[in-house]
Amino acid sequence: MKRLEGKNIVLGVTGGIAAYKAVDLVSRLTKEGANVDVVMTKNAMEFVTPLTFQTISKNKVNTELFECLDHYDINHISLGKKADLLLICPATANILAKAAHGIADDLLSTTVLATHGPVMFVPAMNVAMYENQVTQDNIKRLKELGYSVMEPAEGTLACGDEGKGKLPPVEDILEEVVFTLYPKDLLGKKIIVTAGPTRERLDPVRFLSNRSTGKMGFEIAYAAALLGAEVTLVAGPVSLQTPPHVKRVDVESAEDMKNAVLKAFPKADVVIKSAAVGDFRPKNVSEHKIKKEKGATEEGMTLELTKNDDILKLLGQQKGNKILVGFAAESQHLEEYAKKKLEEKNLDMIVANNIIQKGAGFGTDTNIVKIFYRDGSLESLKKILKTELAFILLDRIKKRMEG
Ligand code: CTP
Repeated sequence: MKRLEGKNIVLGVTGGIAAYKAVDLVSRLTKEGANVDVVMTKNAMEFVTPLTFQTISKNKVNTELFECLDHYDINHISLGKKADLLLICPATANILAKAAHGIADDLLSTTVLATHGPVMFVPAMNVAMYENQVTQDNIKRLKELGYSVMEPAEGTLACGDEGKGKLPPVEDILEEVVFTLYPKDLLGKKIIVTAGPTRERLDPVRFLSNRSTGKMGFEIAYAAALLGAEVTLVAGPVSLQTPPHVKRVDVESAEDMKNAVLKAFPKADVVIKSAAVGDFRPKNVSEHKIKKEKGATEEGMTLELTKNDDILKLLGQQKGNKILVGFAAESQHLEEYAKKKLEEKNLDMIVANNIIQKGAGFGTDTNIVKIFYRDGSLESLKKILKTELAFILLDRIKKRMEG
């Protein structure tokens, strides 16, 4: 899935050692489908040659403000008009200062002034320069003017100093670019997504759980945030990174998940329950580790379980105008069980998958699902990546919200 297909990005490169990392950034932007026009300042060319950027971007690199052109096209104006995003990376203290005060004395600074669309700065410099009050004031002013400025990373800087001023990882910059340019189809919508398994404690070292890895839910949360929704991700114990622009609430048991979901529910427009919630918990939780001699017979021991609340069913009882989406993990009678859950839990749609089918279910990157809708209709999808499925589900949810 190319997330920047058809987008024009003008990348301004200024003179800092991080300029070499901008080469990787251009490569990744183009792989995502973007057309990248690079503008280099004179100082940037001391670090990397225009030929490097030209080779990677497959476009002529722009370096001169006053250039004899074979056609009438004033560079800084045309670049400013063309740009869906003007990205300045790395941005030195100098370009931040110039942009904050409207100084336009070379091709890049004039392009900043001539750009109508979004402009994003990715500062990278020595920690003392970054923390200098003048730089901080310039960043503040740029933000007030509506420009976006990314936070630099902390660590050992090229000069040997420790502190804030490193270029953030290229993947993070790419994600921020994608986020800025992605159509905000779900802007203003509040979405709760649950993901992962729950853990029901037995004693301080043991618990009951299931094989869910949380992948599907995290992909949905990521996609919803990209589309502009305000996302609360209620996550059971999983080892996944929080997607950008997502508010994550970590929980352990089904009871914790219920409380977190119920807290966010009143303000939500949509709830997507992709978590594999434990249906039962041990009736007694031992304060100390259970010893094998205690309570056991020669044959073994019996564990008494008690039922957890069905979170989705509780939400279904107070649904109102909210959209409720359930998941059904089945190993047999998929249609029958999924339809039963749709009805009993008062859902708008349920996404059912056969967990023992190859390429579907827990831990895989793909899924094969059937979506059952409230109106009785059914949509069968072929094997697709969970990333793609997330966008399809959000599209169907949006259509339901619209009418
Ligand atoms: N669910 C829930 N609370 C529970 C159990 C399930 O909110 N205590 C939600 C799940 O997040 C999922 C849907 O209900 O969206 C269906 O979950 P699933 O485990 O497939 O079915 P159950 O209702 O638990 O029924 P069974 O285990 O008998 O198949």
